[in-house]
Amino acid sequence: MSRAPRTDASPEGPNPSTSSSAPPLDSAFTWHSESSEPAPARLSPVNDRLSADTALKRVRRGEFLLYSGDFHNAKQLLGALSRRLPRPAKARSPLEAFRAERRARQLEHETLSRIVVSLDRDYRLGLARAPDTSLACHQVWGASTTDTTVVPLKQLLGMLGAAEWRRKGLAVPGLTGLLHPHYGVYLPTRTDYVELLNSVTEVKGKRVFDIGTGTGVLSFILLQRGAASVQATDCDSRAVACSQENAERLGLGKRFQVAEADLFPKGTADLVVCNPPWIPEPPKNRVDRAVFDEDSQFLRRFLEGLSASLAPGGVGLLLLSDLAVLLGLRPPGWLEAEFERCGLSVQWARSTPARHSKAKDASDPLHMARSRERTTLYCLKPVSP
Ligand SMILES: C[S@@+](CC[C@H](N)C(=O)[O-])C[C@H]1O[C@@H](n2cnc3c(N)ncnc32)[C@H](O)[C@@H]1O
Repeated sequence: MSRAPRTDASPEGPNPSTSSSAPPLDSAFTWHSESSEPAPARLSPVNDRLSADTALKRVRRGEFLLYSGDFHNAKQLLGALSRRLPRPAKARSPLEAFRAERRARQLEHETLSRIVVSLDRDYRLGLARAPDTSLACHQVWGASTTDTTVVPLKQLLGMLGAAEWRRKGLAVPGLTGLLHPHYGVYLPTRTDYVELLNSVTEVKGKRVFDIGTGTGVLSFILLQRGAASVQATDCDSRAVACSQENAERLGLGKRFQVAEADLFPKGTADLVVCNPPWIPEPPKNRVDRAVFDEDSQFLRRFLEGLSASLAPGGVGLLLLSDLAVLLGLRPPGWLEAEFERCGLSVQWARSTPARHSKAKDASDPLHMARSRERTTLYCLKPVSP
């Protein structure tokens, strides 16, 4: 979040439906963006009369377009801009396809993030036919301290979608009760890795560490299956708040502790479970840190520190997809060499094919790799006591 001044530019045209709700253009505003992009120094008011072609030209010139008009038209504008962006060229290898796809997603993010909207002190959106945005914004940002907040429309739409998940709840195989995920926290919609954890039999009475807990889903499954306690960590405060709230909702609050921390809590545990970010590439924003692990630093440090966090007889449970190998981002055998370097042996391993929707989508540019993807649960123990 940052504060920014705002200056005017010529509006695209009159817009009687929203002119009264538009905030004064010379006032300061609070700026929210998930990426590290600084607050815009200048906002250009636009409305429904703006065509997608003109919007694209202006965005490419570096303008931030402050939309006032109809909410559904604004959403359509995002779609139209997205369709005008160049598609990645045909790739000769999975790695080339991956890199081209990532560049295309980044360009799409940068382009669409320049269509912004303003919210009032209660986070209400003054566009015609706009939904109630107040609750979703309070959930993510807390109370507002300024009269005006400016946010990319794309991000606001993501927050509205997340608020709906949070309200409805998500059923997860093996979990009794629903999970209520928060915005910006990794959503366990892939069921393959959760089902692998469900196959672990020796859980009763165990003291567990859950490293990178996210929503807390793995902790809750283990606690419901009889684990004595969980100490969880996550580097993101949103995951900490989310897992804490869900533990309370599920009646597991007394046996679940979570801290905002890097990797391991202090002390030792009988079971150390971890579903790390699995793509060894730099994250581009805060949400990316759930998936992208630059230079495999998280994974290397997890494996290096695992033995010291295990009580005598304890084991580590590592859940990992092989997509990085299939994409050519890690050489085959890299993981096994890391186990050896860190003095760990594999007690057993169970694999399952990826069952998420992208694995079956033949039009996905990464289909070749994703259709072969497997997720494995490695049970690890120190080679010597
Ligand atoms: C793939 S998500 C897994 C979330 C959850 N355990 C699950 O299985 O659904 C990885 C999680 O690791 C967290 N994370 C990333 N780097 C971390 C670090 N250095 N220390 C602790 N947590 C980290 C992310 O914020 C994210 O919540």
